[in-house]
Amino acid sequence: MSENILTYFEQIKAQGLSIDITRGKPDAYQLDLANELLSMNVEPFDGDVDLRNYGEPFGIQDARILGSDLLSAPVDNVITGEQSSLMLTYQMILSKYLFAKSVPWKDIEAPKFICPVPGFDRHFRMLEDFGIEMITVPLVEDGVDLDVLSDALQTNSNVLGIICVPRHSNPSGEVYSDENINELFKIGRHYSEDFLFLFDHAYLVHDFLPTKDQTAVWKLAEQNSTTNQTVVVTSFSKVTFGGGGLSFMAAASDNLDLIKRIRGSMVICPDKVNQKRHTKFFKDLSAVKDHMKKHADLIRPKFEIAYKALEKLDKDVGEYSQPTGGYFITFKSQKPIASKIVELCKEAGVLLTPAGATHPYGKDPKNNTLRIAPTFISEKELEIAMDVFITAAQIAHNQG
Ligand SMILES: Cc1ncc(COP(=O)(O)O)c(C=O)c1O
Repeated sequence: MSENILTYFEQIKAQGLSIDITRGKPDAYQLDLANELLSMNVEPFDGDVDLRNYGEPFGIQDARILGSDLLSAPVDNVITGEQSSLMLTYQMILSKYLFAKSVPWKDIEAPKFICPVPGFDRHFRMLEDFGIEMITVPLVEDGVDLDVLSDALQTNSNVLGIICVPRHSNPSGEVYSDENINELFKIGRHYSEDFLFLFDHAYLVHDFLPTKDQTAVWKLAEQNSTTNQTVVVTSFSKVTFGGGGLSFMAAASDNLDLIKRIRGSMVICPDKVNQKRHTKFFKDLSAVKDHMKKHADLIRPKFEIAYKALEKLDKDVGEYSQPTGGYFITFKSQKPIASKIVELCKEAGVLLTPAGATHPYGKDPKNNTLRIAPTFISEKELEIAMDVFITAAQIAHNQG
């Protein structure tokens, strides 16, 4: 190994850096884009509805219509909730666990779920909470690897469903093709009429480069007669304010009844004042899309900075994703050195999402996948963090 790189690394360490690129959060300039919401006046009444009081458990009409436009689902199938789509997903799973019509999931022996990998750590945590075993299926360029999925379903009983991020998948950025989703529906429905297709559309409107066409998931579910088995969620967490936006869910028949039932035990109604603010801020879907173009202009340069560093690494060290939207870059090392890279970055004062977080149970069998979240920090800090990253990757590779 060249002495130079080790000396350089010691010099970086001596700088006492403290940079955190663990989570995909919007930066303050992105949040500023929605500052109007902070001071927006809302009238107490929206038609007959007193926004200040309990009522409208499924969201105010305007907010449900906006959700219906976002998800291309009929308004009666859409619930607009509080700020977190993850919570809606959790509530959906909880309701299936307790009350699913045929058999509540809690009474199913050794329940399992399909998790495309790499994936989102909080999905894995949620399924682990319910004691649901996670079966991994790799992602390919246009979605889930359907051959591996078919094999997994052939060899496993009691698989309850799949959870996936169909656009700008967290973290590797795949955009599922219509064909892939259609096949997914066919395979899952053939396996069981209770098989649940959970689509987390967290990055539905988060393109920062031209992105391939995708028919709305709900429309595809209609065409495949799988709406009864399909649930789609999205939110404004990365549209307006992280943890201060709105969440949306489309569901049908039993699933819609179940989510309404479980939410009835938990929240009397969502924050209608915030819903009204949002529907004043975004009159319609095209206003959301215009707003997201401003986000894109702020995000794109951050990804370009990250690529500029990553392209200095030899392909032998590893390769990285170049998504057209979303919040993450995935780095895949050739050698099993992901945890070593994280360790070295930490020594140099740069915090990365832990190695393994992209896989269920925190275990990446190849120890080669890392998630880089370039959006939150400033461009200057990002340049420094990426320099640390590529230096650490090179050292880990040389030593590995
Ligand atoms: C795939 C995915 N789903 C859900 C969330 C969280 O969404 P929310 O804030 O609406 O709960 C995130 C945030 O990082 C995410 O990446």
